[in-house]
Amino acid sequence: MWADLAGIGRAPGDAGGYRRFVWSDADLTLREWFVGEANARGLGVHEDRAGNLWAWWGDPTAGDAVVTGSHLDSVPSGGAFDGPLGVVSGLLAVDRLLETGTMPDRPIAVVAFSDEEGGRYGIACGGSRVLTGLLPAERALALRDDDGVTQAEALRASGRAEAAFGADPEVLRTVGTFVELHVEQGRGLVDLDAPVGVASAIRGHGRWRFDLAGRPDHAGTTRLEDRDDPMLTQARLVLAARDAAARHDAVATVGKVLVEPNAVNAVPARVQAWLDARADDDEVVRAVVAEVAGAIGVEAVEESWTPRVDFAAGLRDRLVERLGGVPVLPTGAGHDAGILASVGVPSAMVFVRNPTGVSHAPDEHAETADCLAGVDALATVLEELAWE
Ligand code: GLV
Ligand code: MN
Ligand code: MN
Repeated sequence: MWADLAGIGRAPGDAGGYRRFVWSDADLTLREWFVGEANARGLGVHEDRAGNLWAWWGDPTAGDAVVTGSHLDSVPSGGAFDGPLGVVSGLLAVDRLLETGTMPDRPIAVVAFSDEEGGRYGIACGGSRVLTGLLPAERALALRDDDGVTQAEALRASGRAEAAFGADPEVLRTVGTFVELHVEQGRGLVDLDAPVGVASAIRGHGRWRFDLAGRPDHAGTTRLEDRDDPMLTQARLVLAARDAAARHDAVATVGKVLVEPNAVNAVPARVQAWLDARADDDEVVRAVVAEVAGAIGVEAVEESWTPRVDFAAGLRDRLVERLGGVPVLPTGAGHDAGILASVGVPSAMVFVRNPTGVSHAPDEHAETADCLAGVDALATVLEELAWE
């Protein structure tokens, strides 16, 4: 399966890695791949109203299902593992359980969440946010990508009806427990010398946009004192973010800017910059963003916000015990499991060791032996939950 995915959605140019944006050709190919893999196992696939794919072993309407899975989309020039590892591991764990020849007492589903990274439309966990109603359909449909294409237009181009797009409480209601397996996105498990671990918490995190306006002019003839250059504000923004994060024990990143007209010999007319800020404590994230906005005197427009999630201790401890006392660790990365947990779905996460600790970049990695340990762990967890 890993070899089949390897060629899909390679990032253009020299950046390396993958560019698997929602509703792109790569995404549609990945969706076909998922349906094919599920059908080959005798699992029927259903797409919910938010574009997430559910492969069912057992009755999809019975309720109290044990669901696993993750996402297939990527950030721009992302790694191979963030997302697909959880989907592939879910299918392989189901293979192990199918081999037992017994039916689970609770239905099992493998889900491929749509648009987890928000790489195209900017909002993290788009598929699970729309599913749960946290992101209203009207807002999701009106979002524009960097080429000006709305999500409504992209949906239509993929053959989907935009009128049907939105929250899907009927599907959400069938989920009894969600367990997402994910490559670890730091070096926690490397330091703990363990191939797998279980998540304790997801730090509070969000994305803010700053619209920096200036006056476009000639780079050679305009005196410095006559300029209104938004790039200078942009520079102050980056330094203010770094400074505020360091003082508050948070992290803050300006990883995306759009410059208009982006000409080497012109003072820019406009810069848009996006700030990603995260911390253990939600109030600390808010303080960092407020300080950055104050430092440059520009409003921070909130595009998405995910409060801290502490995974329920009962489910977490049950998994840890069943897996023989694996380590428990928090993460600074966002996940659909956090969104489901935030609306009351009992949720947990299993992490697989990442020897580089690198993520959201081509060097993201997990050794095959550790991935297989993850599949074993996930099969054990599904068996624990779905068989009485
Ligand atoms: C998603 O992976 C995020 O943490 O931004
Ligand atoms: Mn990610
Ligand atoms: Mn992910």
